[in-house]
Amino acid sequence: MSQREILVTSALPYANGQIHLGHMLEHIQADIWVRAMRMAGHTVHFVCADDAHGTSIMLRAEREGITPQALIGRVLEQHRADFRDFGVAYDHYATTDGETNRALTGAIWEQLKAGGHVEARPVTQLYDPVKRMFLPDRFIKGECPHCHSKDQYGDACEVCGKTYTPTDLIEPYSVVSGATPVEKESRHLFVKLADFAERLTHWLEQRRADGGLQPEVVNKLKEWFAEGLRSWDVSRDAPYFGFEIPGEPGKYFYVWVDAPVGYLAAFKELCESGRKPGLDGTDFDRFLRDDAGTELVHFIGKDIVYFHTLFWPAMLMGAGLRTPSAVNVHGFLTVNGAKMSKSRGTFIEARTYLRHLEPDYLRYFFATQLGPTLADVDLDLKAFEERVNSHLVGKWVNIASRTAGFLHKFFDGRLAAKLSAEAAGHYAFARNKLRDRVDQARSFERRDYAQVLREIIDVTDYANAIIDENKPWQLARDETRRAELHDIGTLAINFFRLLTAYLKPVIPATAARAETFLGDALARFDCVDRPLLDHRIGTFTPLITRIDRKQIDAMIEASKESLQSAAPPASGPQPSALSPQSAALSPSPPTISIDDFAKLDLRIGKVLQCEFVDGSDKLLRFELDAGELGRRQIFSGIRAAYREPDKLIGRKVVFIANLAPRKMRFGVSEGMILSAGAGGEALYLLDVDDGAQPGMPVK
Ligand code: MSP
Ligand code: ZN
Repeated sequence: MSQREILVTSALPYANGQIHLGHMLEHIQADIWVRAMRMAGHTVHFVCADDAHGTSIMLRAEREGITPQALIGRVLEQHRADFRDFGVAYDHYATTDGETNRALTGAIWEQLKAGGHVEARPVTQLYDPVKRMFLPDRFIKGECPHCHSKDQYGDACEVCGKTYTPTDLIEPYSVVSGATPVEKESRHLFVKLADFAERLTHWLEQRRADGGLQPEVVNKLKEWFAEGLRSWDVSRDAPYFGFEIPGEPGKYFYVWVDAPVGYLAAFKELCESGRKPGLDGTDFDRFLRDDAGTELVHFIGKDIVYFHTLFWPAMLMGAGLRTPSAVNVHGFLTVNGAKMSKSRGTFIEARTYLRHLEPDYLRYFFATQLGPTLADVDLDLKAFEERVNSHLVGKWVNIASRTAGFLHKFFDGRLAAKLSAEAAGHYAFARNKLRDRVDQARSFERRDYAQVLREIIDVTDYANAIIDENKPWQLARDETRRAELHDIGTLAINFFRLLTAYLKPVIPATAARAETFLGDALARFDCVDRPLLDHRIGTFTPLITRIDRKQIDAMIEASKESLQSAAPPASGPQPSALSPQSAALSPSPPTISIDDFAKLDLRIGKVLQCEFVDGSDKLLRFELDAGELGRRQIFSGIRAAYREPDKLIGRKVVFIANLAPRKMRFGVSEGMILSAGAGGEALYLLDVDDGAQPGMPVK
């Protein structure tokens, strides 16, 4: 097979949060691919970076009372450590907020402009007059213009699913300040995507033909093409954390412009660092200009397809640069069959996982679940425990652990100089099976890891069956049968070595320990074409231990804790402002008229979700079904009184529906839940009798 040169990337994680197991699914998928392609003999460069720009990061830093640079610098170190400790071995992990990226983004921009692909036009956008900033769609909420559900985001309604622009919202409010946004006009810059329609179609056809895009992705793209390619708004007005657009004071590149350029900037930094043998500054230019000899392969999740298959190739085309060879899209991670949930402790951060469990366990399990499609992947914790214990410990390690002892005892740890014809036949059968079903079938390359592991387990079962048939433990008792014992021992170790080679991309740390035991480095799959003979093996030390259910339970508990004990806010509204006890135990207020009472929109809500709030020791976050009013998120300061929020799910409460929405550090609170009592632990939610339905007014 001829040698290929491939630049591989994973999507750049945002620099405002921790890496969680959902991210890890992608980085593990990509890392396994990189390792397997290298073992197949190809040259692979593997880079990633933090995506450091945008409004969310700017506002998050502000809330923490630090500069965006301080925030992204801290997060960068954490992200790097998380990936390193999971064995995800980037050649370089950069940040998009660097000079290399600024220069490259600027250069691509100049090319787009010179090609006539940029236009400017005024845009009317919602503006927060208090915060003095234009509001991205996700920072505006209001009533859906279609189904009239309240508190929907500015881009799409979560109730009826329709999309619209924020100016279509009825009674919009700013998520940042709670203020009513005003319309304001500003000049924006656009990339004329329609200019690239033909070339994009051609690119699409090629990628469909060579498998660089999955069929589901091609179909989706065709739908988008049929709708026509509207120009892409690439500028944002100050205040914004990002790169200022050259020649456009006060205007910044939208984060999605410089983010994918970050892939190239990371690679450029790698080339120029001289850290990777065989790469220097000239390689970057060669790679960019020439897509004949090299490949550019992206791994991404299904939520960011549009950016990678339309905007990004169009930018590259406009700049006269090579386009991606493949955009590999994966589905989303669920845990125990459901969306990751903070209250259930299944929103698991990479670091929390690492404190309790070996990274290779997760790498192995993810691989058994990963195929070439966009299907979601479930981390079923029971299956996780069982499969790792039965496959890795029970079947694979077992081959070595039950053989090493007698090889050392009777043969000084030396493998036989030659296999019997029968043993050689068994070895050839196993080796050929993996060659056919993994190498020839290109199973790693097609990202069908689930299939790879099925084949590996088949061969593992085959190996164990052969060992069982030959009963080495019986042979060992018979001095006249030493040659047979040596033969089966040598075969067993060779089975183990063969399997280790194919498991190595998946469980690199464990495989490294196995290589030490074997006294043999398995750099390529074809190392195992010939068996290892007349060779001294090391003493056997446990390569990997069984997962104990307690470790998983502790991780789940810690996931609940780590979110509860997060640091308090440096600034921002105080949670107590919303808590009912502020009104409790105060002297009775003066009498009011019935009209005063009528101003209150009291309603019945049914608790859909109730969970602890990351960073607050007072609040619970409720999501209520408010019947005709849609769904409501409400933060309530009753945590001390209700320590098991899960138990509140399903019960009905009374809440004030027309209290002005209030932006808190944790999100917007859209009302107030009523409770009686003095506060602290002495707070009691109100009850309603059967028959009261969500949304019913309370009068
Ligand atoms: N910063 C952008 C990507 C820019 S690429 C030029 C972004 N960041 S992200 O942090 O939100 O997501 C990074 C990657 O992680 C995406 O590919 C996304 O699909 C993936 N995942 C985030 N949560 C995930 C799961 N729960 N499951 C699987 N993948 C997930 O988007
Ligand atoms: Zn709607």
